[in-house]
Amino acid sequence: MHGQSLVAVLLSAGGAFALPSRAHAAADLACPIVFDGRIPANTAPTFFDTYATNTIFNPDYVKNLTLKWSEILKFPAINGSRFDGADHIPLEVTISDKSIFQTQNGFRRAGLQFLKDASDGPGTVGVKTLHWSVKQDAARPLNLTHEYLNVWHEAADYSSNQIQFQAGQIIGKSAADKNNFKVLDRTGKSLYSVAIDKTNWQNFAVKLDYNKNQVQIYYSVGDAALKSVAGPTAADISGGGQFQLGILKKPTGTSDVVNGGYQEKNLNEGQIYGGIFLEDSADGCVSL
Ligand SMILES: *[C@@H]1O[C@H](CO)[C@@H](O)[C@H](O)[C@H]1NC(C)=O
Ligand SMILES: *[C@@H]1O[C@H](CO)[C@@H](O)[C@H](O)[C@H]1NC(C)=O
Ligand SMILES: *[C@@H]1O[C@H](CO)[C@@H](O)[C@H](O)[C@H]1NC(C)=O
Repeated sequence: MHGQSLVAVLLSAGGAFALPSRAHAAADLACPIVFDGRIPANTAPTFFDTYATNTIFNPDYVKNLTLKWSEILKFPAINGSRFDGADHIPLEVTISDKSIFQTQNGFRRAGLQFLKDASDGPGTVGVKTLHWSVKQDAARPLNLTHEYLNVWHEAADYSSNQIQFQAGQIIGKSAADKNNFKVLDRTGKSLYSVAIDKTNWQNFAVKLDYNKNQVQIYYSVGDAALKSVAGPTAADISGGGQFQLGILKKPTGTSDVVNGGYQEKNLNEGQIYGGIFLEDSADGCVSL
């Protein structure tokens, strides 16, 4: 940590600096931010419930429309991820038996969308890099016998996801890598795979070059700087659409995953996220 960025954090942290538990400074963000999904320290859970307060994510979607985000999100008292530092806090997306969106009875889902993301918006053109970090909650483990979508960009016509960050056993594929996080392209081809770490933050970034239809993946553990781990590789990321981050748990035992299949009862699962933001990589810039 060099002095200049520490000063910047101290200046911007304000009252939050009094919190002792998240006392490390965030890594520098090197590029212009397009969508900032980092959660300022001391944000109230009810902040996420209405347009009047929620300036970060869409308060209405994508979830059981009757549930409030303040009932879905948890705020674990853990140290922030690499790009959160002391002035931003992690949040945990949870699912329960009630996590049914509209009439999609096969899925259990709750997904965050950036408030200003639009299917033809700035997240779909030029060169953009999506950052997120994940951490596992031992009290709310995922059941990796199932297929999970955790972070993805869904095409504007909803026909596919151009890029998908997944966990668990992918339906119709081998169970051998079910304990891995996987980044797949829209055809289901694996671009990168790494074991799920039960203890540490895992930091990911995906650079989406919409001009060249190329994807590059960056990864690190804990507070380490990101490194390129895959690509740039050709991937069809055309078709606009929106980002989503959270949990979409698919059922087992069906070919109609949206509506049918099996989900066990008394679900209590969560995925902790931190350091969520989309940056502009037009000049090749990626925050590491
Ligand atoms: C948080 O980070 C601080 C400083 O690095 C460390 O001393 C502390 O043990 C960490 N706390 C947790 C809960 O990991
Ligand atoms: C959605 O949440 C509401 C409020 O808790 C609940 O009453 C309802 O049963 C849930 N919907 C489904 C389909 O589970
Ligand atoms: C995990 O999912 C499988 C398939 O739905 C189910 O049979 C099993 O009971 C689940 N395990 C736990 C711990 O919930």
